[in-house]
Amino acid sequence: MKIGLLTSGGDAPGMNAAIRSVVRTAIYHDHQVYGFKRGYLGLMNGEYLRMDSRRVGGILSRGGTILLTSRAPEFKLEEGVSKGVSVIREAGLDALIVIGGNGSQTGAYEIFKQGIPVIGIASTIDNDLWGTDKTIGFDTAVNNAMDAVDKIRDTATSHERVFVVEVMGRDVGFIAMHCGVAVGADEIIIPEIPYDLSKLSLKIKDAFMLGKKHFIIVLAEGVDKAPQFCQKLYEVSGIEPKISTLGYLQRGGDPTYTDRFLATTFGNYAVKALMEGQSGKIVGIRHHQLTLIDMKDSVGKVKKVNTSLYDLTEILSI
Ligand code: F6P
Repeated sequence: MKIGLLTSGGDAPGMNAAIRSVVRTAIYHDHQVYGFKRGYLGLMNGEYLRMDSRRVGGILSRGGTILLTSRAPEFKLEEGVSKGVSVIREAGLDALIVIGGNGSQTGAYEIFKQGIPVIGIASTIDNDLWGTDKTIGFDTAVNNAMDAVDKIRDTATSHERVFVVEVMGRDVGFIAMHCGVAVGADEIIIPEIPYDLSKLSLKIKDAFMLGKKHFIIVLAEGVDKAPQFCQKLYEVSGIEPKISTLGYLQRGGDPTYTDRFLATTFGNYAVKALMEGQSGKIVGIRHHQLTLIDMKDSVGKVKKVNTSLYDLTEILSI
């Protein structure tokens, strides 16, 4: 087989490990891999290169993606998809593997619907892809956020301050919830759970009265930007928290063990799936087992955060 490969959407630590695994698994089984640059942009423009084993050497432990990535809004249009499909056909490719999150897998599903064998690999720091327990990059992003909040807590404690730390996650609260639990946040604000500023204000005041030396609020970007959130809190309570927006540092850096392992096993499974004639499926993991998720079931849906973790924070932040 001649297999096309691309990474698309926001980069995620572990994408490189997945690229390496796809390329070497394919070569091991006497197939060829062609990597498209800048995701769907490169697919539409016919920008690809032959991948060999040496080209993917030394990348397993590196963040980012050697294939580069982009958001490519043009690909959301019918014209963009048919351009991409023509390139695949003209290049004589037998199949395509797409490493990415929700938007990227939506694009992959469109290509599949045009009769091209396609397999997706679940990869986004947001962890919101429906059908998989974990996506490549989430663990590293949470660890990056956790390290940052641990540092912020030192200075918050020394000055007895309230902090609002804004984390990524687009419209969902996975990073905020998991980071919040791991750092022992005093409050976690996510889009999935309505918040009450009067209650929060009382909680902050009580906490300091009870001898707490800091109050850390982990805020998901999907709720509000930290400055706006703090302004609203100030109007209700007179409290002026310090702000820290973690931003892109969450998405960079070397992937953790979990993401390297996930990406390596996902990449291998994706090639094997194609070899078995599977198509229109996304490689993910459910209950610790690798799994193939039907694109038609996953696309357009968003995975739900386990909101009971919020109760855990309420109990442990006393
Ligand atoms: O989807 C990953 C993500 O990092 C989101 O958490 C964030 O909202 C978005 O990408 C940022 O997108 P961009 O890199 O295009 O600014």
